[in-house]
Amino acid sequence: MFFKWTFVFILLCLNSLVADQPWCHSGCEASPSFWSSLPDSQCGGVRQSPININPNHLTFDPGLQNLTFRNIDDPNIIKYLSNNGHTVSCVLEYGIVEVIGGGLSHAYTADSIHFHWGGNIWHPGSEHTVESVRYPMEVHLVALKEGWTMEQAKTDPEGIAVFAFFIDVSYSSMYVEAWHTLTSYLLNLTMKGSSVYIVQPLSISDLLGSVDLTKYYRYHGSLTTPACEEVVVWTVFKETNKIRRKLVERFPLTLKYRNTYRMVQKLNGRPVYTSQRVLVASEGHAGSDYAFSRGSLVSILIALSSMLILV
Ligand SMILES: *[C@@H]1O[C@H](CO)[C@@H](O)[C@H](O)[C@H]1NC(C)=O
Ligand SMILES: *[C@@H]1O[C@H](CO)[C@@H](O)[C@H](O)[C@H]1NC(C)=O
Repeated sequence: MFFKWTFVFILLCLNSLVADQPWCHSGCEASPSFWSSLPDSQCGGVRQSPININPNHLTFDPGLQNLTFRNIDDPNIIKYLSNNGHTVSCVLEYGIVEVIGGGLSHAYTADSIHFHWGGNIWHPGSEHTVESVRYPMEVHLVALKEGWTMEQAKTDPEGIAVFAFFIDVSYSSMYVEAWHTLTSYLLNLTMKGSSVYIVQPLSISDLLGSVDLTKYYRYHGSLTTPACEEVVVWTVFKETNKIRRKLVERFPLTLKYRNTYRMVQKLNGRPVYTSQRVLVASEGHAGSDYAFSRGSLVSILIALSSMLILV
């Protein structure tokens, strides 16, 4: 009997160890370079996220039509905010915001929103980079295949759709009430596991501002935190939403988590699609123009120098 209970006790301990792996972005044993050795981890896989988006290697996909976010203006959509030990998560009323179109093969239901940010000695913290440029912050709207639970969604290669929005800063940004409201609650979230209800109306579109929802990049990747499940259809919006630097800095200053992003991962031959023909055409064109003019400059110089030598 004693042995049996000891055994059960050990099993329970092992189980809680596995369930609550203390991974982190920095400052603990299981920092990103060790994520792939965590139990059931896919972090060492071949379709990982985030990635660097290279504007010269995009494939135009005419199927990437306009996305529709239903009820994105609902002012009571955020159930509560919580500090989950890694970031701030906005838990949404489930089943209200639905995303369709945009070349997605299913409807997806928004589940939560969370943020990735940098350090408090100014250091940007977006996860995706564009031309190797890291933006100050990145907002992730996480949506599950309609009617599925998170557990079910994690078993399907397209079970989760994440919509990523870059946040840029400026000193001159207009007063964005939604971000003032959101960040005013960070002081109530300094403890891991704490949560707070929002009293003021706050919709997802208030947080996203006027980002053009027709301009985006699409690729297949993973969750960016352990176990890095390779189940995500990514949509990364091209335009940024600008908010005041002071508000962006409140995240690392108040929450003490810093640089909450994972380094970019190898593409391993994955295509990255774009919804905009004009982007690819004009960038490609500009690139070759530049090469041409540089080339002609060199030939003019060679011609000039040979003339000088002849003279
Ligand atoms: C997509 O959205 C843009 C801008 O809102 C609009 O001009 C265009 O007509 C839309 N296209 C379709 C196919 O709905
Ligand atoms: C948030 O924290 C402040 C200061 O500690 C407190 O006055 C306020 O009541 C809290 N708000 C909520 C909604 O818990």
